[in-house]
Amino acid sequence: MKSLFDTSLSSEPEMAEFGAKLASLVQKGDVICLFGPLGAGKTTLARGFVRSVASQGEDLEVPSPTFTLVQTYETARLTVWHFDLYRLESPEEVYELGVEEALDTGVSLIEWPERALDLLPAERLEIHITPTDAGRQIRVLGDHHWATRIEEQRLSA
Ligand SMILES: Nc1ncnc2c1ncn2[C@@H]1O[C@H](COP(=O)(O)OP(=O)(O)O)[C@@H](O)[C@H]1O
Ligand SMILES: [Mg+2]
Repeated sequence: MKSLFDTSLSSEPEMAEFGAKLASLVQKGDVICLFGPLGAGKTTLARGFVRSVASQGEDLEVPSPTFTLVQTYETARLTVWHFDLYRLESPEEVYELGVEEALDTGVSLIEWPERALDLLPAERLEIHITPTDAGRQIRVLGDHHWATRIEEQRLSA
């Protein structure tokens, strides 16, 4: 896993737009892990992502899966699995949430991946979010397959 690019996002709409851009390059089986402290903007990014995949705007509710731990969105293009593992009791609980089905059939967006990192695929894209005075600093990590896809989509530009 190597660092692919950095960017800074200074508002909630920019964070959602970044999620929407990420959505343009995903395909079935992809896993995107969202790292960052409480209030970093992980759910905001996920919301922009889900609405983009679904080709919908703010009328599509994308709640935080804080208590349900997972929300799925079946869209014409892909099924999105949005996980929030903060309240996971043990790493193995991800299997009960359907993570294997998510990997086989959809795209997974995972908040608090630290809770089960050893059980998640190594080929994941990692988004690390750090709050700053000016908003949020973003670092994106992934393997060379992700590097190629990101370059093709000019996501880092
Ligand atoms: N790039 C950003 N700059 C400033 N504020 C942001 C940014 N992204 C998100 N926020 C704000 O941060 C707060 C927490 O966002 P949320 O997505 O719920 O975080 P998390 O899921 O990481 O706990 C929200 O009030 C949101 O508007
Ligand atoms: Mg959240």
